[in-house]
Amino acid sequence: MPRKIIIDTDPGQDDAVAILLALASPEEIELLGITAVAGNVPLELTAKNARKVCEVAGRADVKVFAGCDRPLAHTLVTAEHVHGKTGLDGPDLPEPTMSLQDQHGVDFIIETLRAEPSGTVTLCPLGPLTNIATALQKAPDIAEKVQEIVLMGGAYFEVGNITPAAEFNIYVDPEAAEIVFKSGIPIVVMPLDVTHKALVTAPRNDAFRALGTDPGRVVAEWTDFFERFDKEKYGSAGAPLHDPTVIAYLIRPELFSGRHVNVEIETQSDLTRGMTVADWWRVTDRAPNAMFMGDLDADGFFALLTERIGRL
Ligand code: RIB
Ligand code: CA
Repeated sequence: MPRKIIIDTDPGQDDAVAILLALASPEEIELLGITAVAGNVPLELTAKNARKVCEVAGRADVKVFAGCDRPLAHTLVTAEHVHGKTGLDGPDLPEPTMSLQDQHGVDFIIETLRAEPSGTVTLCPLGPLTNIATALQKAPDIAEKVQEIVLMGGAYFEVGNITPAAEFNIYVDPEAAEIVFKSGIPIVVMPLDVTHKALVTAPRNDAFRALGTDPGRVVAEWTDFFERFDKEKYGSAGAPLHDPTVIAYLIRPELFSGRHVNVEIETQSDLTRGMTVADWWRVTDRAPNAMFMGDLDADGFFALLTERIGRL
């Protein structure tokens, strides 16, 4: 029985690979829709990029919605320096022919959770949590209907990537993250602690290219572009492939390990805004509210990803 999910995303090359992985895995995943959010690049571009990715997979039938165009309480911070000015730099992709849905992404999330049986829809945020938090504020009744939130965001041992203290998705909208982490909904977190162990090394990127398919080539060219910033910054053997870890968890959770701990979000301090304060060593009596992942089987992750992309 495939798991019903909504992907909330700010594509972003790594978001794009996560969407392709979901679309390549119909036995495990039924993608109810994609909601775009402002993040890596402004909303108009993330909403366009989400449609470009669906068309790379030949899936112009997927419902794509535009959500919130700015964080709850801050001005938008984007990441063109990482993802390029289109947010999906690398391969030349045609303008999408599929159109956006008319409904606002937040209303799609609310309507879907109210319509589906309780506990059967998983939310998969891959960007700032603005859409998810706005849906929870507008319709508090949906919190108990969500099966699970599996998100990419945060950091503990890896500390920050946009500031010394914070990971980008949480930093952009810390108030939204606070609402999500205090919602009582079961949460699985893929932080930088995991994604920085999912490096697209040259052999791994060659394996995408060796698929000999258009999606395989596109993924390799996204990585060729995306990796230049991170390899320079970290001196690493490849760029971390953040967002596909969320979808891989839905397909093969045994690839990941972590701890169920308390995670709180810094929203008051400019210095540490967006920090995910994970009580990894359980030194407080604060109730655990998230499965905070710490490690993954990287070879297993890339084997799964390559095999599935090869199906498209
Ligand atoms: O910090 C990494 C996260 O920020 C990823 O989701 C990437 O796509 C960007 O949104
Ligand atoms: Ca993202």
